[in-house]
Amino acid sequence: MRVLVSGGAGYIGSHTVVQLVAAGHEVLVVDSFANAKPAVVGRLETLTGAAIPVHAFDLTDHEKTERLFAQEPIDAVVHFAGLKAVGESVQRPLDYYENNLESTFSLVRAMRRHGCGLLVFSSSATVYGDHAPVPYVEDYEPLSASSPYGRTKVMIEQVLRDVAHIDEGLRVALLRYFNPVGAHPSGTIGEDPQGVPNNLMPFVAQVAVGRRERLEVFGGDYPTADGTCERDYIHVEDLAAGHVAALSWIATHDRRVSTWNLGGGRGTSVLQLVAAFERASGRTIPYAIVGRRAGDLPAFWADPTLAREELGWQTTRTVEEMCADTWRWQRANPQGYPD
Ligand code: NAD
Ligand code: WQD
Repeated sequence: MRVLVSGGAGYIGSHTVVQLVAAGHEVLVVDSFANAKPAVVGRLETLTGAAIPVHAFDLTDHEKTERLFAQEPIDAVVHFAGLKAVGESVQRPLDYYENNLESTFSLVRAMRRHGCGLLVFSSSATVYGDHAPVPYVEDYEPLSASSPYGRTKVMIEQVLRDVAHIDEGLRVALLRYFNPVGAHPSGTIGEDPQGVPNNLMPFVAQVAVGRRERLEVFGGDYPTADGTCERDYIHVEDLAAGHVAALSWIATHDRRVSTWNLGGGRGTSVLQLVAAFERASGRTIPYAIVGRRAGDLPAFWADPTLAREELGWQTTRTVEEMCADTWRWQRANPQGYPD
């Protein structure tokens, strides 16, 4: 298929581009480079051995989006483009609602006008809100989220369900990611946060490589085995494979909307992750346990049964591999991608 990857220059999008090409798809990318560096494109071409046409524009621009669909035959869209920093979304709610919703409206309108009927969307475990029982199961309701970022995911899921309800030509996959980490095993592409990392793994990796002095562990008094929060970390390579599987499923089945958790189904604590990273890197990670971060839940993980049964997909990579691959990327690219 000819697949448009929105946000394909970003962290998860770039890894998925590699696997889509490996699966025999022809890929084109649209990315505004709001949170990505152009250097990733050359690396993708080296890794895939394919030319990856990149359209650099903001998807909230309906006219440019329409022009792209008028020019290019597109069979499917894998839609990663969006802003994703939880804390920033609290400070800049309008930017988040506008960017994440408007880019989706613009894409879906163009898809409908041009008869493109396959859409894979990046949702998040954050839509399970604060009260869902663990492990999280796809049919849980009501969905909710505690940040504007998370609410854009709840809203977009609903928009896509409503549109699919009246459009018999549309097949939508809502993929709820748990905590994506890791990098391509080559060490040439990986996660490159701008500024101080919000997420645990890139922060740990920057401490290991000497860019930051020590990790602050947010809370040591949670009701978990070692007192630190537990999350369902998923290797970005497993996550990318989940997209390839979901795309092929919706292309061959008639269900209009499918929702799948993409997670491993087990929790790992902050301190367990730090210890695994120390083993993988051979470096000591200095850390201090500080107060809790507002909004953090003690522990959650996926019930990954549905994706296993329907897609034949499950995670295969261990926390050790997540750390080893993150470290290979970080060590080879201590400052991330060049400008
Ligand atoms: P990322 O920031 O690395 O990638 C997103 C890409 O989208 C960036 O390259 C950015 O430049 C681009 N983009 C943003 N707004 C755009 C717009 N209006 N038009 C065109 N391009 C635009 O983020 P990521 O970690 O790769 O996440 C990808 C998707 O997965 C996001 O939708 C995110 O919300 C979702 N997600 C991420 C995580 C995570 O922990 N990384 C977890 C769950 C869900
Ligand atoms: C993991 C654990 C922190 C940083 C976020 C979003 C979620 C999803 C994935 C997009 C927590 C602790 C972290 C640090 C720490 N994104 N931590 N010191 O919060 O589970 O999920 O990213 O959809 O919506 O909320 O991931 O990596 O930020 O935190 O102790 O410097 O690490 O408290 O327990 P989180 P995270």
